[in-house]
Amino acid sequence: MEFMINGGKKLCGAVEIECAKNAYLPILAASLLCDGEVILDKLNITDVSNMQDILRLLGVGFKEQNEKIIIDGSGCKNALIPAKLASKLRASILCLGALVGRFKRARVTYPGGCDIGLRPIDLHLKAMMELGVEIEECHGVISCDGTKLHGGDVVLDYASVGATENLILLTVLGRDKVRLINVAREPEVVDLCNFLNKCGAKIVGAGSSEIEITPVKRLIGREYAVMKDRIVAGTYLLAAAITNGEIEVRGVNSHFFTSLIKKLCQSGCFLDVKGDKIRLKSGDLKSVGFLETNVYPAFPTDLQAQFVALQTIARGDCVVKENVFASRFKYVPELIKMGAKITVSGNVAFVEGVPYLTGAEVFATDLRSGAALVLAGLSAKGYTKVSSAEFVLRGYENFDEKLRSLGAEIKLVI
Ligand code: EPU
Repeated sequence: MEFMINGGKKLCGAVEIECAKNAYLPILAASLLCDGEVILDKLNITDVSNMQDILRLLGVGFKEQNEKIIIDGSGCKNALIPAKLASKLRASILCLGALVGRFKRARVTYPGGCDIGLRPIDLHLKAMMELGVEIEECHGVISCDGTKLHGGDVVLDYASVGATENLILLTVLGRDKVRLINVAREPEVVDLCNFLNKCGAKIVGAGSSEIEITPVKRLIGREYAVMKDRIVAGTYLLAAAITNGEIEVRGVNSHFFTSLIKKLCQSGCFLDVKGDKIRLKSGDLKSVGFLETNVYPAFPTDLQAQFVALQTIARGDCVVKENVFASRFKYVPELIKMGAKITVSGNVAFVEGVPYLTGAEVFATDLRSGAALVLAGLSAKGYTKVSSAEFVLRGYENFDEKLRSLGAEIKLVI
């Protein structure tokens, strides 16, 4: 699959933002813990359909009704998640916590996900063992015995999003109180906790670095409005910025955008926040000088590539430091094909702004790099072909259609 783009069109208009992939996936895993139906808004991206395939294998039923999806975990059973399915997405590992939480035992294979550096699960497993889970690894299969699961304090060595979510899913139906310390504060973690609390869980502290879980006997499925995707919204804001456009993103919680808004203002854009809408008008683009990614509330790694795309045509030089994933500059050679001036040294990229980019044939190397290349193509002079577009479809719903509605000339060729 590829995106064909005729660049140079200003993006203008308004766009409704879809549910957040990284909240939706853990909530799907959480449905394994619920009695009764969980009802969510539909989210049409491939990471969700791949997660549904895993849950179906575990006996979860799915029905669609209007714009909703109805998830029934009552027939849920314990089964090995085979490598063929687990390798399709990182979030498959979240079924481990949920299955051990529900059945006390689970067997899973190593998760997949975007190739953006080593993505181990040592923090997940270490913390689970500290809570009494016995773990064996053999030929790539992780077998967990949670019959001796107990409460207590667990300190994470790093505030991993996935490890935090897995531990919550593991302990929410446990026996004893658990305190998780140095956990991830990402809004998606808070959304998972809000969902679980709505279903009857007793979780306090989500959004801070310490979460306390008082186990409950059962969780009852509920209808839940998953938060909107701050990374998707940020991508559209950057798409308007890079094309000298003017846009309104709708349905978002502006509190989650502080670091992005600050950097967009520094780069010469005008921003206005009203309720759940953020408006951006692009300006005379200038370099922000320095940008570094880190855990929330710092600048998100998932917007790093898209922001670098913007910096390639901003006046001046910029240093970008990636602190979360080791290999998140794989897209740089592709931007260079389009005329960008970037050098990379370890986890630091040096971007020297050029007046404009030119269309080229480029390859997406992962989800966010694919989005960044689309943005570069939208701003470039001439035609750009972004191959391996399927990476982008993992996390952006109707991306080409929404961009066209904003005035972009882009089509997805299957
Ligand atoms: N890490 C370890 N050991 C572990 C877990 C993580 O060393 O056991 C390291 C990772 O290798 C990485 C860093 O810690 O260098 C951050 O990993 P984290 O566990 O926080 O991330 P994740 O749970 O694997 C989620 C999102 C990512 C997002 C990161 C950071 C999902 C499904 N994925 O990944 O989203 O970049 O948090 O915010 O929630 C994306 O959407 O494009 C994406 C990659």
